[in-house]
Amino acid sequence: MNIIRVATYKDLSEKASQILLKQIKEKSNSVLGLATGGSVIGTYELLVEDHKKNKTPYNQIKTVNLDEYIGLKPNNPYSYHYFMNQYLFQHIDLLEQHTHVPKGVSDDFQNECHQYEQTIEQLGGIDLQLLGVGVNGHIGFNEPGTSFQSKTHIVDLSPSTIEVNSRFFNTIEEVPTKAITMGIQTIMNSKKIVLLASGKTKAPILKEILKGEVTENVPASVLNQHPDVTIIADEEALAN
Ligand code: GLP
Repeated sequence: MNIIRVATYKDLSEKASQILLKQIKEKSNSVLGLATGGSVIGTYELLVEDHKKNKTPYNQIKTVNLDEYIGLKPNNPYSYHYFMNQYLFQHIDLLEQHTHVPKGVSDDFQNECHQYEQTIEQLGGIDLQLLGVGVNGHIGFNEPGTSFQSKTHIVDLSPSTIEVNSRFFNTIEEVPTKAITMGIQTIMNSKKIVLLASGKTKAPILKEILKGEVTENVPASVLNQHPDVTIIADEEALAN
């Protein structure tokens, strides 16, 4: 794993946006795997800033998001769909039909999971997957104990994830208890992976990941088995 140590969240966002821009410049029809959460907001803001200034084109770029809460429609302000529109999609010239976020509302989730895997396959796989990491080591919403062979699936969120993510909601009762997420194998099939870790709450889990022991109890530890992973972490996250 390639570790990039930076001083602050701002530096982390700059590094991550540079890596994404390099990918977009080298392959204008790249398939980008995107994440939500606090770790990636700064990166998206810099991509938007760059687009305004340099007109970097996204009209051939395809995107696939990691996950979505079950029960939230795309226009729900707490949904990941809404998050992506708010922070990135509406500000750049990405075509709506080129963006993919798993559906949080469906009559047939088994089919939705299957379709999502098909979509990724039809796009030719993910060129670069951006990841955050949960304090319990989850990637996407793959909680501890998830099989490394998993594909897109429905998960029960752990009480700790519900609590941590409640900061994005008015009350903890509003946090959905289930989600749809790319599986660990889906993520591992990406050609390149970039994981962002910022702040002292991520220090213990980052230490676990960097120890190199690969265990399903720490989902992100699987990244030790991927040939092209870059972790960008700030000093607080690397403090342990
Ligand atoms: C959330 C998301 C993940 C995200 C992670 C870290 O639950 N499902 O995709 O990477 O937790 O979030 P944050 O960046 O806000 O710390």
